[in-house]
Amino acid sequence: MTAAPARRSEGGNEGSIDVAFTPAEEVRPTDVALVVDVLRASSTIVAALDGGFERVLCVGDVEGARRLRTAGRELAGEQGCRPIEGFDYGNSPGEFQSAPVAELVLCTTNGTPAVLAAADAADEVLVASLINFDAVVRAVPDGTDVTIVCSGTNQRFALEDAYAAGRLVQRLGRRRTDAAVAAAQLAGSYVDSNAPLAQSADAGVLEATGQSADIEFCARESVFDVVPRVAGIRDGIAVVEKSHFGPSPDERHTAGDGVRQHPRAELIT
Ligand code: MLT
Repeated sequence: MTAAPARRSEGGNEGSIDVAFTPAEEVRPTDVALVVDVLRASSTIVAALDGGFERVLCVGDVEGARRLRTAGRELAGEQGCRPIEGFDYGNSPGEFQSAPVAELVLCTTNGTPAVLAAADAADEVLVASLINFDAVVRAVPDGTDVTIVCSGTNQRFALEDAYAAGRLVQRLGRRRTDAAVAAAQLAGSYVDSNAPLAQSADAGVLEATGQSADIEFCARESVFDVVPRVAGIRDGIAVVEKSHFGPSPDERHTAGDGVRQHPRAELIT
C-alpha cells in the first residue's frame, strides 16, 4: 500500500471489478480493495469507529495485540468466535456504542488478516459490510479498478461475504471478471440479506455460541455512514480510521482525482 490516493484506471476506461472469494486467492495489484467480513470483523470495525474510537489497529495475531496494550488503547477480538481472555471486548459489533479511549486494537481470525493482505495489494483499502453498504458505494472513486476481498472462514468460502461482494458488484458497475459475474449472480438469487446470512456456517457458529443478535445486527443494510479506511501500515499493523467520504459531495475535500486526502495515522508506539 502506498501513501498516495488511489489512481484511476489508465486510459479513461470504466475500471474493472474483481472478487477474491477466499484468502487463498492472490489479490492482484489494484486501485481500491474493499475488505468484507460481514460476520463480523468488518461490521465491528464500522461500529467501533461509529461508536467513537478514532482508529482501529488491525493485527494478525493475539500476542501481537496484547503487546499493543497501553493507556489509551483497548483490545477486542475473537478466537473461534469467542472473546479472547484478557481482552476488553469480543468481536460483537453491538459492544461499541461508546469509546472510553482513542484506539481499539482488533485481532480476529479472518477479518484483520484480510485487511492486512489487502493493504499489500491496493493503493486504497476500505472496509465494507452490509451495515455501511451505501456509504462504501459512494466512497469508491469512479473509473478505478476495484477488488473485493472476502475474508472467508478459515481460508474457505463464506456465503455472507460472497453475498455482500455480489451486492457491491451490482452497485459499482465496471468491467466484471468471471468472479465478479458469479458474485453478482449469487447476490441476485436472494431477495435480501437475511437468507444468505442465516444459511451461512458462520451464522451457525454464532447461534451455537449464543451470539445470534450479531447476525441481526450485521444483516441490516446501510445503517451507518462510516467508511473505514486503512490510513497506514506499520510493523504489521493496519491503522484504520474513519474516512470522511461522506453523504454530501459538499462535505468532501477531494484531491484532483476525486479521492479524499486523509492524514496518515500517527506513529504507533
Ligand atoms: C473473523 O475475523 O474470523 C470473524 O470476524 C469471526 C467472528 O465472527 O468473530
